[in-house]
Amino acid sequence: MVRKATITGLGKYLPPRILSNEDLEDMVDTSDEWITSRTGIKERRIAAENVPTSELALNAARDALKDAGVKAYELDLIIVATVTPDMNFPATACILQDKLGAKNAATFDLEAGCSGFVYGLGVGSQFIETGMYDNILVIGAETLSKITDWEDRSTCVLFGDGAGAAVIQPTDKGGMLAFDMGAKGSGGSSLYMPGGGSLNPATEKTINEKLHYIKMEGNQVYKFAVKRMGQASFDVLKKAGLKPEDIDLLVPHQANTRIVYAAARRLKLDKEKVYVNLPKYGNTSSASVPIALVEAVEKGLVKNGDIIVLVAFGAGLTWAATVMEWNR
Ligand code: ACO
Repeated sequence: MVRKATITGLGKYLPPRILSNEDLEDMVDTSDEWITSRTGIKERRIAAENVPTSELALNAARDALKDAGVKAYELDLIIVATVTPDMNFPATACILQDKLGAKNAATFDLEAGCSGFVYGLGVGSQFIETGMYDNILVIGAETLSKITDWEDRSTCVLFGDGAGAAVIQPTDKGGMLAFDMGAKGSGGSSLYMPGGGSLNPATEKTINEKLHYIKMEGNQVYKFAVKRMGQASFDVLKKAGLKPEDIDLLVPHQANTRIVYAAARRLKLDKEKVYVNLPKYGNTSSASVPIALVEAVEKGLVKNGDIIVLVAFGAGLTWAATVMEWNR
C-alpha cells in the first residue's frame, strides 16, 4: 500500500477590517484605476494593532480541526509558514500549540515567503509518507500590514492579512501525488525585509531608515513569478505522470492577476479552471493559497477525484507546487 498524505480538513480566517483602494487614495499618491489595472486588487483585510499572526492562525486552525474531526491533542506536528511571526522566537507554531492546547504536537515555523504553505505541505507529507506521523496541521498565516511601509505606494497597495490551515492525514488513494520545490537565493534582494535580524538588529538608525518594512523590486519579482509559476506547474505534473490538460483546478498564489493569468496561459488553461480571489484580499503571502483553496471547496468547485494544482512563488526567491487527487 502506498501511503500518501491528503487534506482532510480546511479552515481560513480573515480579519474583519477592510481597507479599500479608495481608502488608499487618501493615504498615498495612487488610484483605484492604477491598482485594479496593474494588480487586480480592490480591497484587503487588515488585522487590528493588538492582533498578532498567531491569533489569525488560531481561528483558521480551529476550523480546520473541526472540519477534519481531529482534536487538538491528537495533532503530531504543527507547521506554521509565515514571514510575520509574532516575534523572532519562540516560533509562532509554539505559541499556537499553547493557544490550541495541542500539547502532543512537535512544532516549528517554516520561512519560504509566499511559497511557505505549499513548502509546508511538502514537508508535512514526508512525515506522513514515512509513517512517522498521522495528524499534521499546516498553516499559512500573515499580518503583512505590520511590516508594510504605508507611505510607499509601490508596496502598500499589494498586501493584506489572513490565515489558512489544512489538516493532512494518510490515505491509500489519491492525495498529494508530487511536489516541486526550489529557490533562487541570488534573487533574495528583490524582495526582503532588511531590519530586525542579526544583520541589522533594531536600533534607532534602522528604524529611521525604515529597515523593518518590506522592500521590493516589483519588476524583478514579476519576471521571476511569471516564469516560475508556469514551470513549477509543468514540473510537478510531470513528476506525477500527468499533463496540464488533466488539471481540474489551479489554485495559484494570489499576488497579481496578471501573473496568475500569464501562468495559466502557459499551461493553456481556461480562466474557469483558475481560482482567483485577489480582488477581495490582495496578496496575503503564505496564507493566500490555503485561503483560496478553502474558498474553492466552499463554492463546490472541488470534488473527489479532481486533479488540483497548488503553486506559489515568493521571497527567497522561492517556488513550490503540488499536484493532488482530491480525496476526503
Ligand atoms: N499607484 C500609482 N502609481 C504607482 C504605484 C501606485 N500604487 N506604484 C507604482 N507606481 C508607478 C511607478 O512609480 C511607475 O511610475 P514611473 O513610470 O513614473 O516611474 C509606474 O507606476 C509603473 O511602475 P512599475 O513598477 O513598472 O509597474 P508594473 O506594471 O511593473 O506593476 C507591480 C508593479 C504591480 C508591483 C508588479 O511589478 C508586480 O506585481 N510585481 C510582483 C510583485 C509581487 O508579486 N510581490 C510579492 C511577492 S510574494 C511575497 O513573498 C510577499
